[in-house]
Amino acid sequence: MNLNNLNVPHNYKNIAEQYGTPLYIYDTERIKDNLSAILKFLTYQNSKVFFAVMCNNQPEILKTIKNLGIGVQVNSENELDLVKEAGFNISDISFSSTGISMELMKKLSKENIEINFDSVEEVEKYCALNKNKTFGIRVRIPKRIKIISDEATNIYSHSNVGIEEKDFSKITDIAEKTGNKTIGVHGYFASNVFDEKPFIEFGNFLFKIANNFPDLEYVNFGSGFGVRCKEKDKDFNFKKVLKHYSSLCNKLSRSFQRAIILKIEPGRTLLADAGILLVKVTNIKKLSPKKSEISVNAGFAEFARPRVYNSYHIIDNLEKSGKPKKVYDIRGNTVLQNDFLGRDRKLEEVKEGEFLIVKNVGAYGIVMASGFPGKKLPNQILISKSKIEKSEIEYNF
Ligand SMILES: Cc1ncc(COP(=O)(O)O)c(C=O)c1O
Repeated sequence: MNLNNLNVPHNYKNIAEQYGTPLYIYDTERIKDNLSAILKFLTYQNSKVFFAVMCNNQPEILKTIKNLGIGVQVNSENELDLVKEAGFNISDISFSSTGISMELMKKLSKENIEINFDSVEEVEKYCALNKNKTFGIRVRIPKRIKIISDEATNIYSHSNVGIEEKDFSKITDIAEKTGNKTIGVHGYFASNVFDEKPFIEFGNFLFKIANNFPDLEYVNFGSGFGVRCKEKDKDFNFKKVLKHYSSLCNKLSRSFQRAIILKIEPGRTLLADAGILLVKVTNIKKLSPKKSEISVNAGFAEFARPRVYNSYHIIDNLEKSGKPKKVYDIRGNTVLQNDFLGRDRKLEEVKEGEFLIVKNVGAYGIVMASGFPGKKLPNQILISKSKIEKSEIEYNF
């Protein structure tokens, strides 16, 4: 994964002036490179990648993903409609969510969408409605699998997402009695985890419990793969994790005597570093002789992650490559007390009217933008091979 600037036509300053700021820029080539970095290690023959649409559901992004020939993972009716509109085939869509309503359940089953259920109760309702249907289940991750992630530490210690191992026999009973089949197990624990250890342990767990389901056709390992945030961060070890998943699926296929499909659902890995946000400096407030606060024309309204998750995003001056001399906090220009895009950042001297670039914003950026308080949503453009591919992306919300 890459923290360098995107391959933009002209320079960023021209683009910022031409298209206005705040401005999201996405690069299709970077998305393609990110997919290649995963596919390189996904060597198991029966593997399938599903892009997690929740991280970026904008129409041009969905078109780009479609052109890359992979599937999509959706978690709401709206996302389902968006991917159908973007031209995805039913066989390339995987649906996982919680608390699925009866109406939605009917729609999913009528359209033969692959579903992973979160509860025994949903399985009961689905099976009462259907015969000769197949479904998967999302499994509860055991708490003994510890994860360390700045954004998601112990995220599942208070979560009841997924079906517990003790209830698996209920699932197979319900399916059998109603003439349906449980064909998949799916798991997901948290986003942006760097340590390979929990992925290995979690893989082993899914592999073990998969044996409870005689009609098994797939194991879906979700995602959560870490993405570099700082220059000094290491890249996520795809080689180790995906090789391990591949070897588990090989073994499963041998023991089931048929090809079991390995599925993964990366969102952040494909999109995060393929997006940047250009912002304009609107004011500089001196805090001390050594430190100032830069206000920019974007913050929580346009890019919520720093405030919601305390996430770190590189912020650079545009057009300047000298040595950083001053320390700045970078604040969104709203009345919110804690609206910072970054704090204590060393930058070359910044002046009002200049532009800054915020990196790694392609995933969970625009989809979490609310406009609060009272702002317009930012513009978005798409570039490809250093050309502007689409100069105004309409919003999908
Ligand atoms: C079920 C599921 N799959 C995939 C993802 C995508 O994860 P990431 O963006 O970390 O790759 C998520 C994100 O929350 C998820 O809930």
